[in-house]
Amino acid sequence: MKIKLEKIKEEVIQALDQIVGADQLEALEIKYLGRRGELNKIMKQIVDLSKTEKKAIGQLANQIKTDIVAEFEKHKGATDKKLVSEGALDVTLPGRKIESGHLHPITIVQKELADLFTSMGFMILDGPELESDYYNFETLNIPKYHPARDMQDTFYIDHKNKEDEFDMVLRTHTSPMQVRAMQKYGAPLRCVVPGRVFRNEATDACHEHTLYQLEGLMIDKNISIANLIAVVKEMLSGIFKQEINIRVRPGYFPFVEPGIEFDMGCLVCHGKKCPSCKHSGWVEMIGAGMVHPKVLKAGGIDPEIYSGFAFGIGIDRLVMMKYGIDDIRHFEGGDLRFLNQF
Ligand code: DAH
Repeated sequence: MKIKLEKIKEEVIQALDQIVGADQLEALEIKYLGRRGELNKIMKQIVDLSKTEKKAIGQLANQIKTDIVAEFEKHKGATDKKLVSEGALDVTLPGRKIESGHLHPITIVQKELADLFTSMGFMILDGPELESDYYNFETLNIPKYHPARDMQDTFYIDHKNKEDEFDMVLRTHTSPMQVRAMQKYGAPLRCVVPGRVFRNEATDACHEHTLYQLEGLMIDKNISIANLIAVVKEMLSGIFKQEINIRVRPGYFPFVEPGIEFDMGCLVCHGKKCPSCKHSGWVEMIGAGMVHPKVLKAGGIDPEIYSGFAFGIGIDRLVMMKYGIDDIRHFEGGDLRFLNQF
């Protein structure tokens, strides 16, 4: 066995002398040092030896292995040096960049919004995506068979909410958090709720079945539409880092009275009309208004003492305007050519 071991070492030294190229070197390394290599074959036989032989041969085998590994290392070092001197290997070249993950554009803007609102003293709240029909519709003054339900058709879950026996739905908007927040925190109250919402929607460049919104709510004594406009302006100029054209017009939402809508000038086409603004030059961005007394009551707040505003903004649209994206379907499409631009 001793002779065999020494022979292996001899063989390796000779073979290394004749080797050309990295492939041959690797093959040789596997042949002698691999798991089923020559050296291991002998090592396996050591168990059958007598105790004293085991010790001596074991030591020798380890020594031979170390020598062989050193021979390989020496050879590799010499090859590298040769390659460098021949100019085939340039060790000063920059290394390969390791790819790392990054945030989705919606997440980026969601974080910016959270920062903006925190700086204005708003709490950031999170709500359930699987919501009771009670909070999604009833408390928002949208009873069963109300036409406003048609505009927000969604996915009903075949299962009732345990607490109130209402149907469960994938929430159609972040507005259900209005009453949840009022019930939990009472008045005065300042909060925003970013989150994912769902609609049973035929998709096109501006409609998706899965989208993101941010709900805003402020309740205190003497709150008026002027406060709402100020906060919305602060939000838009904070996100776009420039003055934004806005248009305010009346809008109907059962949970506000009066209701208004904010449009902003389309930043994709700058008013020239394109698919993302439905060829109008304006993009509907925000639904808003003064919180309806019925909603305040549902939240346990006295409408005779307090008033408040609420607004809901589509984060997808905001991101589209911010980065000049012309199709909302990119967000959930999973195409890396799109995502890697952020
Ligand atoms: N929840 C509405 C929607 O998804 C948007 C909205 C309109 C939210 C008016 C509000 C509001 O808070 O006051 O279409």
